[in-house]
Amino acid sequence: MFFYPKLLIRNSFKMKSRINFFHVTIIFISIVLVAVYVVSNKKHMNSKIDYYTEQYRPQIHFSPKSQWMNDPNGMVFYEGEYHLFYQYYPDSTIWGPMQWGHAVSRDLTHWEHLPIALYPDSLGYIFSGSAVIDWNNTSGFASNGIPPMVAVFTYHNAERVKAGKIDFQTQGIAYSLDKGRTWTKYAENPVLKNPGIKDFRDPKVFWHEETNRWIMILAAQDRIKLYSSPDLLCWKFESDFGAKTGAHGGVWECPDLFPMKIVESGKQKWVMLVSIIPGGPNGGSATQYFVGDFDGNKFTCETTETKWIDYGKDNYAGVTWSGNSVGDSRKLIIGWMSNWEYATKVPTNKWRSAMTFPRELILKRKENDFHLCSLPVKELELIREQCYAVSNQGIEDGFDMTGVIPFKTSPLEINLDIKWEHQPQKIGLKLSNLAGDELEVFYSGANGTFTIDRSGLKNISFSNDFSGIHEAPFIAKEGMKLQILIDESSIEVFGNNGELVMTDLFFPSDDFDQMTMICEGNNISIIEAKFYKLKSIWSE
Ligand code: FRU
Repeated sequence: MFFYPKLLIRNSFKMKSRINFFHVTIIFISIVLVAVYVVSNKKHMNSKIDYYTEQYRPQIHFSPKSQWMNDPNGMVFYEGEYHLFYQYYPDSTIWGPMQWGHAVSRDLTHWEHLPIALYPDSLGYIFSGSAVIDWNNTSGFASNGIPPMVAVFTYHNAERVKAGKIDFQTQGIAYSLDKGRTWTKYAENPVLKNPGIKDFRDPKVFWHEETNRWIMILAAQDRIKLYSSPDLLCWKFESDFGAKTGAHGGVWECPDLFPMKIVESGKQKWVMLVSIIPGGPNGGSATQYFVGDFDGNKFTCETTETKWIDYGKDNYAGVTWSGNSVGDSRKLIIGWMSNWEYATKVPTNKWRSAMTFPRELILKRKENDFHLCSLPVKELELIREQCYAVSNQGIEDGFDMTGVIPFKTSPLEINLDIKWEHQPQKIGLKLSNLAGDELEVFYSGANGTFTIDRSGLKNISFSNDFSGIHEAPFIAKEGMKLQILIDESSIEVFGNNGELVMTDLFFPSDDFDQMTMICEGNNISIIEAKFYKLKSIWSE
């Protein structure tokens, strides 16, 4: 159809007199068709080129296509899909009336965005919560043999806040019979009214085999409240925990409670997670944990010191997935990779916030104490592309590795196995660029600490709370193993098989394109170092 205009132009001088209305119409239609083709093609090309390629856009972490995201919610595994709902405000890059965004993954690595799952209604915004599969149809929501996926969440009523009331948070439920794609809110919501507590939120629900009923754990200001239910609809108060235990620098939020087997003995213990804001070990928000027992009514804590699942500044509100594929007994968790101190100000324009890389929790018993360790899920291997390896090499001083590794510094996975005879003063890595930004991660034998130092970053004017040096207590006797994930604007460090965990964000003025190995104090030996170029989870 496009040869018409050409033909006419070529012959236009000779055939002037023969151009009639028919020809003009054909020319016009052709021009319109060409224009439509060019424009739609350009749009298509743009969508490919622009897909998750903005400055700072995480390449191996989940982030919403656009606008504001905070806590992960309703994580449940069903029919091959890991569901990730999340606190979402689709009208701004700043927190607002909350709804549940939704995505699914089949491999915990690649994510498919789905439409918003739960919208605010007359009872309030939809705050954080959890989801379960009601396999025994205790709720009566099942249909045609399909068990309901039930979401349990907090209603936050902004009208009641404005009216000066304190009972503005209640718990509601909704169910889905089509794998979380569409939801029906329960007509009798709320299922749990407010008992007169200002902060009364973030229900995590699980089935308790031993007592054959549902348990709900939620955060109530400075403590945890536990409830039980035969059907997810009627809830009975069971017990309180924590008013005098753990860190209390701020309000308690987003709890979780689940059994785990101790690696060494196979003995079962119950682990409770409680997020807190402020009062984290390096300022702002963070997540603490307790280890003990749960008898279906009451949680008894065995740990005495305050323990943190992550000593970095940017892992908050993490809770675990409900259920897993057959034969997979891992306890999987994902956290919100930000900190309320500056989350609304970080320099990203199209979207705000990402999740941590999904992690597996491991409970260890060492030196008469419990350690809740985490490691990136093994599915990380799916996105490894190219590897650069070094083994058996002694190091006396630091050295510049720029150009040695034949690929970019992000997204990158680094696995280091290092040994020493005498404690090194400082051993680690420095990322930098020509603009003068520097980020260091290192172990200091002299101090018995692991540090992420982001005080060398230049782009920090967005918040006074961002720049700083973040430390974790860490003693590595004869050496250490490090697994490090570097994305466009985050670093996650896992030391000695997850005993040390630190997650920090960074926003350098230019990409980090230089890497230096830091080695001060005593010599060390690299037993093995592996650098994996990682493939973007968003590439098509
Ligand atoms: C934690 C939190 C939750 C609340 C939600 C609101 O980050 O404050 O306690 O449900 O965010 O978005």
